[in-house]
Amino acid sequence: MFDMAGDDAIQFGLGEPDFQPPQLAIEAFNQAMRDGRNKYTTTAGHPELRSKIATLWHHLSPDLDESNVCITMSGTNGLLDIFLALVNPGDNVLIPEPYFPLYPPDVRICGGEPNLYPCRFENGFVPMIQDLEERLDENTVAILYNFPSNPTGGNVNVKQRDELVEFAKANDLWIITDEVYDRIVYDGPHVSFLGAGYDKVIMVQSFSKTFAMTGWRIGYLLSPDSEAMAQLTKMQYYVTACSNDAMQHAVLQALKEAPDYPESMCAEFKARRDLICERLNAIPGVTCHIPTGAFYVFPKVEVPGMTSEEIAMALLEGGVLCSPGTAFGSAGEGHLRFAYTISREDISRGMDRVESVLSELRSD
Ligand SMILES: Cc1ncc(COP(=O)(O)O)c(C=O)c1O
Repeated sequence: MFDMAGDDAIQFGLGEPDFQPPQLAIEAFNQAMRDGRNKYTTTAGHPELRSKIATLWHHLSPDLDESNVCITMSGTNGLLDIFLALVNPGDNVLIPEPYFPLYPPDVRICGGEPNLYPCRFENGFVPMIQDLEERLDENTVAILYNFPSNPTGGNVNVKQRDELVEFAKANDLWIITDEVYDRIVYDGPHVSFLGAGYDKVIMVQSFSKTFAMTGWRIGYLLSPDSEAMAQLTKMQYYVTACSNDAMQHAVLQALKEAPDYPESMCAEFKARRDLICERLNAIPGVTCHIPTGAFYVFPKVEVPGMTSEEIAMALLEGGVLCSPGTAFGSAGEGHLRFAYTISREDISRGMDRVESVLSELRSD
């Protein structure tokens, strides 16, 4: 669909911020290379950066230090490390559906089976414990939670989070918590799975979304469990040996000198969220929740007789690129995903087109 999009198509397809990283990080990156920071680092990454990251989580888990952090070359890299460390052939991992498309193949690469659990529209895309219990079996080793979620924008409150932690604890499962959108949250503080009374937790993190560094490829893994960290770091060694030297210096600078950068970007995302949700909910046949995190909306879009892929193709012909819900698993049928990573002006123009294409389709 990306290839088919015309030059004037309005792009709601890509899950990456339309911002640049903080200027001082770009300068620090350049400077670090000039200073000769062009070498391998230790596998887990520069101690100062790891230590800084650990302190960012002290409000939830005060005992964390650099040994609880392993720098990775992105969240994507971190996810693979986790599944390599946790999954043996025959194991299964509870994975949310709709899902970030790498989860199921990653589990399979490691010889395991993705065990999909539903996150339904009618429940605000938060799983029901009963659905988890029905899917659990003796080969289930872990459950992955992703809040705020890609693709749904769904999020948990403290009570829901506590119930999900309790489920994992009662069944002795590892919690893999993908919190790469933790600082893109709108109507309250981020609710993390860290520091929630259960330490069999591995967090996937990334600077892609929060510092607009998608192309830099840098993130980290964090766990209060030191044995888990040792195994994850071993996998990181096998997968990429270490992360990028100069870039680690640049990210450290960003964390020190531009600590509020994510929040300033987030203010703009919030205005866009309000705009796109208002426009979508005003279109006949379209219903969307107001997401409280990430930069996606995942509305229900009903056009009798058409699949979400057919609707997305019709929108593409009308000059709008968005993703069919089924790109995120079959439970995404009946939905489209719009990433609001474009200007408010483009969102408005795009919504005009969506409105007119859907009105034509529904009148056919
Ligand atoms: C939920 C989720 N997890 C992980 C990632 C991976 O991000 P990256 O590999 O850029 O760090 C993404 C990227 O879209 C995502 O949406």
